[in-house]
Amino acid sequence: MKMTFRSLLSWAEAELERLQAKSPVVESQILLMEILNVSRQSELLLGLDEEASESVFSTLQTWVERRGEGEPIQYIFGKAPFYGRDFFVGSGVLIPRPETEILVEEVLKHIPFDRKLSGLEIGLGSGAIALTLLLERADLHMRAFEVSEEALKWGFKNRAHFALDTRCEFQLVEGLEWPSLEGKVDFIVSNPPYIPEEEYSVLPREVRDHEPRVALVPPSQNPLVFYEQIADYAKTHLNPKTGLIALEVHAPLADQVVRVLKETLEPAFQGSQVGLVLDLSGQKRVVYFQTK
Ligand SMILES: C[S@@+](CC[C@H](N)C(=O)[O-])C[C@H]1O[C@@H](n2cnc3c(N)ncnc32)[C@H](O)[C@@H]1O
Repeated sequence: MKMTFRSLLSWAEAELERLQAKSPVVESQILLMEILNVSRQSELLLGLDEEASESVFSTLQTWVERRGEGEPIQYIFGKAPFYGRDFFVGSGVLIPRPETEILVEEVLKHIPFDRKLSGLEIGLGSGAIALTLLLERADLHMRAFEVSEEALKWGFKNRAHFALDTRCEFQLVEGLEWPSLEGKVDFIVSNPPYIPEEEYSVLPREVRDHEPRVALVPPSQNPLVFYEQIADYAKTHLNPKTGLIALEVHAPLADQVVRVLKETLEPAFQGSQVGLVLDLSGQKRVVYFQTK
């Protein structure tokens, strides 16, 4: 009997339903569109009665099974969009989130244009932030620290993909005592792990079972530990003339992060200012600090 895309879709929908996926109809269409390399739903729907090959069916079977186990769709596809580009992702690295684009925008908004700048990212992950900054601004040089070897591999893969090897250095680090750098950096950017332990346990299964815990939860009962360490590090490593720190925050902690930055850095950088940026849903999302 002829196997059409329509029959594949009905099979996938039923299977995803059985596996308790959240949106079986939409998900089966998304999976099939990716396999067929089709970007518009209308394109898929118009060809529903065409014959499907065995290989399409076999990929769909594997992907449906993985979705049924709660694996994020971005891991299945091996890529995630960020700031208009696709980044390679997979097991061991956090999937870049759309709201993190605000952090990138804030850095781009605040850094000066007048000379070559150097930036440091703490917690590289896939490289979505550092590499996007480099792609958006040809005058930047970036360094980044990452504690997870697995995540770093994804960062390297993306760096090679975007041909940015000569404009950034990535370094594997241990714990929160980051290595000293030669010279000062013009900005520090970070989207550190900030989910409190009690909230981690109620995150969706898709996140808890598949994304790395080290990327989500700080390694201490103190939810501000990363922000305190970053502020401390900035005291000696941030350029006092044009320095910027931009940090993604968990909304309920935002005011405390502002306080940490003020208390730690205002005495060291006279005339500095701290600001808070909301995301599109009105949540406090980014805290920034400017030395001048
Ligand atoms: C929330 S993820 C952000 C990843 C990526 N920058 C992004 O926005 O998609 C935090 C990252 O920090 C890394 N990390 C955790 N502890 C760290 C540490 N002590 N030093 C450096 N990086 C660390 C994690 O492995 C993870 O890649």
